[in-house]
Amino acid sequence: MPTAKVVFATITGNNEDCADIITEALEDLGVEVDQSEISQTDAAEFKDYDINVVVPYTYDEGNLPEEGLDFFADLQELDLSGKVFGVAGSGDVFYEEFYCVAVDKFNQAFQRTGATQGAENVKINLAPESEEDLDKLDSFASELLNSFNK
Ligand SMILES: Cc1cc2nc3c(=O)[nH]c(=O)nc-3n(C[C@H](O)[C@H](O)[C@H](O)COP(=O)(O)O)c2cc1C
Repeated sequence: MPTAKVVFATITGNNEDCADIITEALEDLGVEVDQSEISQTDAAEFKDYDINVVVPYTYDEGNLPEEGLDFFADLQELDLSGKVFGVAGSGDVFYEEFYCVAVDKFNQAFQRTGATQGAENVKINLAPESEEDLDKLDSFASELLNSFNK
């Protein structure tokens, strides 16, 4: 059975909701998933899973979650060749050019690890509530698994 690690950062719950939806979608596809909050997670745990996912919020005009800075630094030092990764996250379109910048930053960090990007970045405006949001997150999960199975 393929395994996945889903790591989220949240203040008001939107990114935890996104992570919950991704975890449930992966589980429905037969993946064994471990989900955890970023400040409670060692980036090196990604080495133990086939599919690695980060779901961060963006704050203060394009900044990473403060409690995820160590995780972010450690992630870039890892060798995750052979693993599949994906990044999804909730931000607020009100912030225009800074919309979900943390998603792009985590994507860049993963690129340095040698892991393979398994799905395009997903950006959700505020809470993942619309049919379109749910479809995007479900497709994200199935694309990750398909990439792993290739
Ligand atoms: C002070 C402040 C700064 C923010 N800055 C950004 C930003 O630069 N880019 C963005 O996309 N969203 C920004 N947001 C919006 C949050 O990322 C958005 O509300 C997100 O859904 C919060 O996720 P959470 O519920 O998981 O904490 C900001 C929100 C606050 C309160």
